[in-house]
Amino acid sequence: MVWDQVWIDVNVATMDPSVHGAYGAIPQAAIAVKDGKIAWVGPRSDLPEFDVLATPVYRGKGGWITPGLIDAHTHLVFAGNRANEFEQRLQGASYQDIARAGGGIISTVNACRNADEAELFELGRQRLNALAREGVTTVEIKSGYGLNTATELKLLRVARELGEHHHIDVCTTFLGAHAIPPEYKDDVDGYVDFVINDMLPAVIAEGLADAVDVFCENIAFNLEQTERVLNAAKQSGLQIKLHAEQLSNMGGSALAASLGAKSVDHIEFLDEAGVKAISESGTCATLLPGAFYFLRETQLPPIDLLRQYKVPMVIASDFNPGSSPICSTLLMLNMACTLFRLTPEEALQGVTFNAAKALGLEHRIGSITVGKQADFCLWDINTPAQLAYAYGVNPCQNVVKNGQVVAL
Ligand code: NIG
Ligand code: FE
Repeated sequence: MVWDQVWIDVNVATMDPSVHGAYGAIPQAAIAVKDGKIAWVGPRSDLPEFDVLATPVYRGKGGWITPGLIDAHTHLVFAGNRANEFEQRLQGASYQDIARAGGGIISTVNACRNADEAELFELGRQRLNALAREGVTTVEIKSGYGLNTATELKLLRVARELGEHHHIDVCTTFLGAHAIPPEYKDDVDGYVDFVINDMLPAVIAEGLADAVDVFCENIAFNLEQTERVLNAAKQSGLQIKLHAEQLSNMGGSALAASLGAKSVDHIEFLDEAGVKAISESGTCATLLPGAFYFLRETQLPPIDLLRQYKVPMVIASDFNPGSSPICSTLLMLNMACTLFRLTPEEALQGVTFNAAKALGLEHRIGSITVGKQADFCLWDINTPAQLAYAYGVNPCQNVVKNGQVVAL
């Protein structure tokens, strides 16, 4: 066999649902990489012969290899911070009060309109580096802090450039319908028309988005407005997803499901009918424990119903300056278990196989499967549950991206 690289003295959590057993685990395993892809995975004792003198062999000292982690919901290109609002909330104001008073998302919009691409790129690069050190190899980044054409395009261009210059792969999502900009505060339908007729065509013309998202909520866009934007996106051939049922039950998830959305995200207020709808459409449920934690929410997402209806659960950071200023996918694994009572295996599925599905990339990434991209991490742990259990001493030893060993 001629391979580019072989890993031995490792255990592998393949996260491939077709591999029997918890985590799709193969103890005392080996992985071979060729042309940036997984060429072979299985028990070390079955590893075919290869030219040991011509092939780099990496020894994992008995650690675990998992797929590279995927953070499928972030807003990580933004300028400024909202520590002042954090203080206001500690003095009694709610997230909704601050948004209604013209702060919240709009304060970050002002900061982003005033920031240049170089500044946004550098901020984004530092944040991607933080995620990369935790074994993240694919990130979704949304716009939504521009709310005018020039700034939305600027944010998406920066996101695309980050993907080109960093080993992390970036998927981009146009979230022009994130909040109502001050220019349209008395004409929300007019803004929705503008998103559909001006911004979206400009985004598409530059090839800047893989997907379109909307914030469907009583402080943002109603069901009818959401439907108009998602329909326009779908007609343009873009994937769709939705911020749905975060603060109230608006019926956004059922709408998104009827349009074939890849995921509905937050969903603390989702009811059984909504869970049934997303299970029938194959839509993923993206749970965002960082926002739940940081906003001190008390309404838990309907985890038991999601399990009962076999909805793929995704875990993401929602990293953003307002509701989840936490740039750590590993911490989300812990919070998914402590706050939402997921099992460590469900949490890891949520940042690997299911996260790939939410991005429409399950044929390329998300599990250690022959033919998929060689994106994986070596962890200094004895059991995969340790990834969700402890936090603070980063056990990430090595990252391989597209078959290249990355210097962290
Ligand atoms: O996913 N819910 C809407 N958007 C973000 C928050 C954005 C912000 O507060 O800046 C979220 O939580
Ligand atoms: Fe979000």
